[in-house]
Amino acid sequence: MASEDLANELAQVEEIALAAIASANTSQEVEDVRLNVLGQKGRLTAVLKSLGQLDAADRPRIGQIVNDIKKRIQGRLDERKEAVYLTALDAKLQSERIDVTLPGIAPRLGHIHPLTQITTEIIDVFYGMGFSVAEGPEVETDYYNFDALNTPANHPARDEQDTFYTNLGPNVLLRSQTSTVQIRVMENNKPPLRIISPGRVYRNEEVNARKYPLFHQLEGLLIDRDVTFGDLKGTLTEFIRLLFGKPLKTRFRPDFFPFTEPSAELDSECPFCNGAGCKTCGHRGWLELLGCGMVDPNVLKGVGIDAEEWSGFAFGMGIERLAMLKYDINDIRNFYTNDLRFLEQF
Ligand code: DAH
Repeated sequence: MASEDLANELAQVEEIALAAIASANTSQEVEDVRLNVLGQKGRLTAVLKSLGQLDAADRPRIGQIVNDIKKRIQGRLDERKEAVYLTALDAKLQSERIDVTLPGIAPRLGHIHPLTQITTEIIDVFYGMGFSVAEGPEVETDYYNFDALNTPANHPARDEQDTFYTNLGPNVLLRSQTSTVQIRVMENNKPPLRIISPGRVYRNEEVNARKYPLFHQLEGLLIDRDVTFGDLKGTLTEFIRLLFGKPLKTRFRPDFFPFTEPSAELDSECPFCNGAGCKTCGHRGWLELLGCGMVDPNVLKGVGIDAEEWSGFAFGMGIERLAMLKYDINDIRNFYTNDLRFLEQF
């Protein structure tokens, strides 16, 4: 081969090689170019091998050219390899960048619903007095909701306006009071008894700020020998002291409940104004807290407890009502709408 042709071919190889290097964008592409040009089977290597066919006089000159080209290509390959590496590194650093100065994401901690909080507080108070918790079904028969509680068929509480009946049978309803649990406990346990029973109750009421068709009550029942109205007064006055965290005057106003005789409505001195009168107590100085009374002997007879030997008292309170008083909440619907702005205050 003529030395001029070879020189031209070399120039072409260099030109193509440099262009290929310039457009290689990854270290693999750079390596591919190196193998194609300088590798065992590379184009420049092939030219080198053909040097033997040249005139001896031309060999040094062409050899020199080949070596120069090889050096230049090698130099460009090294540069390109470095540049491609730095670009890749930069991209990686950018994409994996973490701003360590950003504030952390605090996990949101939930907490106990205010109704559950006050229920737990009430239970704690009665635990301290030796009561235990009993539960009963929310779907009940009218026997437990009314008959066994000495509630005659014509009592207004039996009116369908108040009570949700079900289509599970003519006598099956959603309990309208937790007093049902008194009967279930007395049927299955022998006195002496001390139980409280918190739970849901249902009444067909129109919703407003004070009423909701589902709410919660807490029932209490104590059966023992020689229980007096004085025991009832002492127990509930102590309960109020512990619930509100200070001694408060109480008064028992005569009332009527079918299953207690006598029956009373318990008022406490308003803990917010100490009886002076304020917004919470409607300027009366007293808060109406719960219903109570001495268990009617008819109720005891109905469950086979000897009313000559045993007597007792019962009480029932609305949990929402107590929570509204204690936490100064003015609308019962707040308990059920799950608005965090409300719930987070407790
Ligand atoms: N069950 C009654 C109600 O829903 C509340 C009540 C009053 C319960 C007097 C009692 C009681 O145990 O003795 O209005």
